[in-house]
Amino acid sequence: MMRPKTKLDPTKTGTETEQLESSLKKLVVGQDEAVQQIADIHQMHLAGLNAPGRPIGTFLFLGPTGTGKTRIVQAVAECLAQTPRAVVKIDCGEFQHSHEIAKLVGSPPGYLGHRETHPMLSQEMRNQHHSEKCKVSFVLFDEIEKASDALWNLLLGILDKATLTLGDNRKVDFSRAIPGGDGENTARKISNSGLEAARRKFPPEFLNRVDKIVVFHPLGQNQLRNVLDIELNVVQRRVFESAGANAFVLQAIERLLVHPMSNLMATDQIHGGDTLCVDFDSCENQLVFLKGPGEPSARAAATGN
Ligand SMILES: Nc1ncnc2c1ncn2[C@@H]1O[C@H](COP(=O)(O)OP(=O)(O)O)[C@@H](O)[C@H]1O
Ligand SMILES: [Mg+2]
Repeated sequence: MMRPKTKLDPTKTGTETEQLESSLKKLVVGQDEAVQQIADIHQMHLAGLNAPGRPIGTFLFLGPTGTGKTRIVQAVAECLAQTPRAVVKIDCGEFQHSHEIAKLVGSPPGYLGHRETHPMLSQEMRNQHHSEKCKVSFVLFDEIEKASDALWNLLLGILDKATLTLGDNRKVDFSRAIPGGDGENTARKISNSGLEAARRKFPPEFLNRVDKIVVFHPLGQNQLRNVLDIELNVVQRRVFESAGANAFVLQAIERLLVHPMSNLMATDQIHGGDTLCVDFDSCENQLVFLKGPGEPSARAAATGN
């Protein structure tokens, strides 16, 4: 007898990709489609189903300024490589002339400055954040609409063959890279006709090599509030991770809370067991100390006061 076929669910993602997806959603607000597309490529990469000899995934992010296009690239690097520094960020507007392009690929031997240049796109630079677990790197072509012809050719070469030839003829392998373009100003004009605008702006040989084009949405009030929460959390964490800031905060706590509290206790205004309420008086621009309401003080209870 033939065994009955089991129905499979091809929309279910593996735990690693699920983790990436949920971490990204915590870092990037309101751009779930972008997160989804990145998760899809990640899943394909883990399954080994990406096209061989090409970068792992090529994304074009369009949309208004300040909606998270650059942020999401850093966020993916934070999640997969544990550091936002794993992103090589190329501000396209800054690479107009050949000497600027040389900062990316180095200059040919014999040229002035050949030895001093550490090309941004060399294999060493790209590998430096690789770990045992994650050997993927990230290349962000930021504000891609400002790219010069020379930079376009370089980018198209990477997307096509996943290799780049440096000034001294060494080759860099981009088959384990995730290039992303962030088209800022073009994007401003884009609403629901995002793709059409992209077609008008970018050459077809580029768009044909892009795996996913995602239009980022403007953020609403609530989403902006979420972004603010995330940013404040980052600041908070940074304060507590930095030894200097830590000492500063502890000193401030001592000055603003511990000293006044010891005065209050020494003058019998509060006692062990009292509930002390500390508030900020914005008119006086200082902290105010109030007793209770709360548990009656231990001493008051003991003496029957
Ligand atoms: N969707 C978002 N989720 C979380 N933070 C965001 C988002 N959009 C913007 N931000 C915050 O604003 C900053 C600027 O956003 P960025 O990603 O550089 O915008 P752009 O879309 O112009 O590239 C980010 O560093 C981040 O702090
Ligand atoms: Mg940007």
